[in-house]
Amino acid sequence: MQLKDLAPRALLSLLAITPHLASAFYLPGVAPTSYKPGDKVPLNVNSIKPVASPSDSRLHSVVSYDYYHPAFQFCKPEGGPEYVSESLGSILFGDRIMTSPFDLRMAQNETCKSLCTVEYPEKGLQFMKKRIMQGYSMNWLVDGLPAGQQIVDQLTGTTFYSPGFLLGQRDKDAGVLLNNHYEIWVEYHLVNKDPNQLRVVGVVVQPSSKKYDGEPDCKDNHGGIALGDTGSQEVKFTYSVYWRKSPTAWATRWDKYLHVFDPKIHWFWLVDTAIIVVILILTVMSILVRALKRDIARYNRLDSINLDDLNGTSALEEDGVQEDSGWKLVHGDVFRTPARPLLLSVLLGNGVQLFVMTGCTILFALLGFLSPSNRGSLGTITILMYTLLSFVGGYASARTYKSWQGEQWKMNIALTPLLVPGIVFSSFFFLDLFLWAKQSSGAVPFTTMLVIIGIWFVISIPLSFAGSWLGFRGPAIEPPVRTNQIPRQIPPAQSWLKPVPSVLIVGLLPFGAIFVELYFIMSSIWFSRIYYMFGFLFLCYGLMIAVAASVTILMTYFLLCAENYHWQWRSFIGAGMSGGYIFLNCLLYLITKVKLGGLAGIVLYIGYSALISMLFFILTGSIGYFASWWFVHRIYRSIKID
Ligand SMILES: *[C@@H]1O[C@H](CO)[C@@H](O)[C@H](O)[C@H]1NC(C)=O
Repeated sequence: MQLKDLAPRALLSLLAITPHLASAFYLPGVAPTSYKPGDKVPLNVNSIKPVASPSDSRLHSVVSYDYYHPAFQFCKPEGGPEYVSESLGSILFGDRIMTSPFDLRMAQNETCKSLCTVEYPEKGLQFMKKRIMQGYSMNWLVDGLPAGQQIVDQLTGTTFYSPGFLLGQRDKDAGVLLNNHYEIWVEYHLVNKDPNQLRVVGVVVQPSSKKYDGEPDCKDNHGGIALGDTGSQEVKFTYSVYWRKSPTAWATRWDKYLHVFDPKIHWFWLVDTAIIVVILILTVMSILVRALKRDIARYNRLDSINLDDLNGTSALEEDGVQEDSGWKLVHGDVFRTPARPLLLSVLLGNGVQLFVMTGCTILFALLGFLSPSNRGSLGTITILMYTLLSFVGGYASARTYKSWQGEQWKMNIALTPLLVPGIVFSSFFFLDLFLWAKQSSGAVPFTTMLVIIGIWFVISIPLSFAGSWLGFRGPAIEPPVRTNQIPRQIPPAQSWLKPVPSVLIVGLLPFGAIFVELYFIMSSIWFSRIYYMFGFLFLCYGLMIAVAASVTILMTYFLLCAENYHWQWRSFIGAGMSGGYIFLNCLLYLITKVKLGGLAGIVLYIGYSALISMLFFILTGSIGYFASWWFVHRIYRSIKID
């Protein structure tokens, strides 16, 4: 083992603590349930979602369906299915959990129970076939635990449970087969060896396709049910339940589901990026600091010579420098109000809000407050944070606008909580229309929409107003140097300092810092894998902030040296450009990993990607702006201006 191998290993063992940490907290609603032998254990069904198609491991659809969508004709419980109550985050993230007709009794094996017989009409058969070919999978929950399939990771040789199982499969000879028999394997654990306190600690379902001629007997000698093209077809649904004792304790029952794909590669990438980034930042910063020190010393020397008026010109000539060069020249313009101050201040306020929200959410997750057993807690906490942090957004927006002596302060107060959330909400609503049209369960119900509007108008907007009020009441931030009456001429810039190339260069680096993590996040969003590597995410977020801030500062320095004082929008758009790169990355992902058939799928994919990229644009843009703002204040404070 070389040293090279040791570092990731140490880090890996450090990370290994996190899932255990996660299970150390029990939040309300995720307390363990103990069952006596023979007690009914609930099996609930969630929406049917597309996953990677088995034929080419690409995603073929982004539309999910209710389990009881009429075209599937799945067996319903007596008296009809009922919704199981869920959190707001859970609903927004597409969970639609309902009761089911499966009768599971703790520790009682059942072989071959009949569910119901379904007659599929011709249209229904085509619908089912299409869904099977697209790789749709069922998502069941037994005692809150997802029913998974046991999968062996070829790379590490470990087995893990991947949530969900396929609706059917394609057979080379027989055609498209529908899974109509479910073998449910439930693992249970005895609390303190007490045979009357049993807990569910693992669920695996092995689906299969069986063509029954007479009464269903669930034997292995049946061939699969191939779905026909014409006429109607009868399908009998059956299931068996097997209970198995397991040494896994309840507290660690999620560990098997939280499988890290390629942890080593993941760490290598992260450590490599981190080292490169840190070296880059340190080098650049040390050069910058040295240059600045030299500049400041020179400016102040020139100043003292001028003040004393001791044969100044000759001393200057000896020095070999001219006064009229460098960033000092623009001191009378650098704090000039940028173009469209209202828009920029509103975007910056929202950026601060998103920045703090992301940081807090990741921190919460890292501390284990958002365990996966608490479904949708990530979504719920994100919304909660965003709502409460409206106050911070309003404050930041107002403070910034006031420092630019903005006059439309009423507009600023109104637009801060309305503009960006309004764009997000209306695009969300627009995309939802597509899902409604497709009768997808992913469509957010109308009542949930009303709840969101309620939260927005009743909590978020007043909080933002309060923040703005406080921001406008506080003293304006005074710039360290006075701004001249007449704006300076800006000399023509070098090619790479022109707006477009500089913005493209600056945005690339923060994007590079999060690129690896982005891949895992995207596959968790689109392939419904559980994402829980918040340790990685936390590091990446920190890395990205550092990169965005330092690169933007560097660009601002060069810009000011080139006597261009329009640094405000430039630093905002420059750092924000990493959002643009994220959008490009999403498009690349669309080409390589996704193969969407219809227009609706593509509109939905691009729509959601654009929405996320836009929010990311605002977030990183604000990091860039505030870093530059700090830098500019810092350097102009340290020189003497007569
Ligand atoms: C249920 O069946 C499985 C597999 O045949 C067996 O290992 C297990 O002991 C049985 N459980 C009970 C409670 O009978």
